[in-house]
Amino acid sequence: MSSTSEAGWGSRIGLVLAMAGNSVGLGNFLRFPAQAIDNGGGAFIIPYLVCFLLMGIPLLFVEWSMGRFGGRYGYHSTPFIFQSFHKAPYWKYFGVFGIFTNLAVATFYCYLESWALSWAYYSVTGEFTGMNQQEVKQFFTDYIALGTNQPIIFWLICLVINTYILSRGLSGGVEKVAKIGMPLLLLFGIILAVSGITIQAGNSGAINDGIVGLNYLWTPDFSSIWNFDVWVAAAGQIFFTLSLGMGSIHCYASYVKSKDDIALNSMSAGWMNGFVEIVLGSAIIIPIAIGYLGIPMVEEMTSGGSGLGIGFAVLPSLFSNWGAFGIVAGVMWFGLLFFAGITSSLAMGTPVMAFMEDHFSWKRVPAALLFGVMILLFGIPCVLSQDAFNEFDYWAGTVALVIFALIEIILFAWVFGMDKGWKEINLGADIKVPMIFKFIIKYVSPLFLLIVFIGGAPAIWENATKDSSFYGILARILLLFLFIFISIFVYIASKKIKSEKL
Ligand code: ALA
Repeated sequence: MSSTSEAGWGSRIGLVLAMAGNSVGLGNFLRFPAQAIDNGGGAFIIPYLVCFLLMGIPLLFVEWSMGRFGGRYGYHSTPFIFQSFHKAPYWKYFGVFGIFTNLAVATFYCYLESWALSWAYYSVTGEFTGMNQQEVKQFFTDYIALGTNQPIIFWLICLVINTYILSRGLSGGVEKVAKIGMPLLLLFGIILAVSGITIQAGNSGAINDGIVGLNYLWTPDFSSIWNFDVWVAAAGQIFFTLSLGMGSIHCYASYVKSKDDIALNSMSAGWMNGFVEIVLGSAIIIPIAIGYLGIPMVEEMTSGGSGLGIGFAVLPSLFSNWGAFGIVAGVMWFGLLFFAGITSSLAMGTPVMAFMEDHFSWKRVPAALLFGVMILLFGIPCVLSQDAFNEFDYWAGTVALVIFALIEIILFAWVFGMDKGWKEINLGADIKVPMIFKFIIKYVSPLFLLIVFIGGAPAIWENATKDSSFYGILARILLLFLFIFISIFVYIASKKIKSEKL
């Protein structure tokens, strides 16, 4: 087989950190707190935790096992990983999602990552020093309206960094970055969280103690369990944060040796993401913003649930309340966002590279370049227009994840069969996976996904048929084109495999 069969992880800690880095992303620090507030604070937490246990953890087991299983046959991207589970020819086309989603999400994700890079740079150069809240907001508005060339320059730098690291391979690139980036991210996160929680009302302009924000988030509100929209939002957040339903976990796991543990590794990476999200993600933006601005204003700022406005347009001015430490805090916050982002976007690059290496014998460097160029081309509409950005985010970052997850769990638990699936999960396991998960994976998670999908179908239809601007429509056409384009490549690859077998 191709060069990928020689590729692999250098160490277990490297694998777990890379996999945790895949999950830990902008979603943990920006999307999670904003989603939580947008869905009623404490009202969000119960559905969120239930979704984590009944969908997040089971799907982690499934995706890791599917990846390792496919890797045994020399396949590292989902079209042919799926095909290795069942010979019916259509499975590989369902697997197209596992390349499509990564490319489509990476287009807007790398652009956001470049914001973090530039904001870290501006924090170091003191650009925000002395700016009041209005001025920082204006700076942000001008930046995203491309008032200067700087957003483009930072975006290109970001794409070059991603492409370069990917071209160094898993152990030589991705793993090294994770080994440096993840500990730094944790360190910065802990320092910022402690600084946020210990804000005291009356000190340097604070109107609330930091703890007020935490209480707001963590006081459970049981009435939410009857609100379907909150469940959909919680499920969406679990998918996005754990990078489930994307195909990147399968790809990373396909490089695990065929009898090495996946049970403990998947839980280590998954719970590390949980810690970063639940503990650190909730202890930075929310306590700081509520500490200085109060609950009503923060609720207004997070409406929509992306967290970008508050993270980029508000926080820099709030850090200035901390005097000299505020500059360090700014560098740490945007540095943390950058590390969180890049360890995720690298994971999005690997499936397309693996596909080209496995099936078209491409070398690593051209494969990485292909990813970089595709992200550049497909990213242009997202950079130019918020509408295009939203379409990519909605179709690839929300809808496709649920569809793909539903398909993969049916394939794993029902087509391949749960008895065989359970053996796969437990093969080489360093922990005893509780038997209850066999039942959950077979019945509960698929049912859960089906309900989310059916319940969300009217909204999906409405979004598909609603009018949009030129860029919004262009984005939908591009996404469709991308899916068809990858499917054609999968078809050609399958013909090649057949002819090689003859
Ligand atoms: N899992 C990644 C994030 O949370 C995509 O941002």
